[in-house]
Amino acid sequence: MIKVLFICLGNICRSPMAEFILRDMVKKRGEAEKFYIASAATSNEAVGSPVHRGTKRILSERGIYCSPDKRAVQITSADYQKYDYILCMEERNRRAVLSRVGGDAQHKVFRLCDFTDRPRDIADPWYTGNFEDSYRDIVDGCEGFLNHLKIKNSKT
Ligand code: 4NP
Repeated sequence: MIKVLFICLGNICRSPMAEFILRDMVKKRGEAEKFYIASAATSNEAVGSPVHRGTKRILSERGIYCSPDKRAVQITSADYQKYDYILCMEERNRRAVLSRVGGDAQHKVFRLCDFTDRPRDIADPWYTGNFEDSYRDIVDGCEGFLNHLKIKNSKT
């Protein structure tokens, strides 16, 4: 099983969006049972809060399931051992993860869009108000990530 933890600043906009998009993608590929997918925040600002209504709306418009029970949680140092991939929305999140978990000796921590042809940060809709752009970037990143896994598996 491949265990994936998505990370953003608050865990109410981008990382839960990525969590539910990737779950939807692997389900549609018939590979849901191969994955364990979750999301967490670097900060404790929104801990306990439900998914932001902007993220809920984007997912609902596209027929992607979003759990009404999801609440924001903050990453812990134990998560580093628990997960195979820790996929961050932006460089700032990646640096915050490294400082919280004490480095990346096992090379698990990436920016999500580092798996695309155009490595980049994913803008924070909490500040931009633009959930559409974040959605597009997250889909691109998740597709790139699944392609990466496919190539990696074909070599082993
Ligand atoms: P996210 O957006 O990192 O995409 O979930 C944010 C949500 C909440 C806060 C910051 C960013 N906050 O400070 O509460």
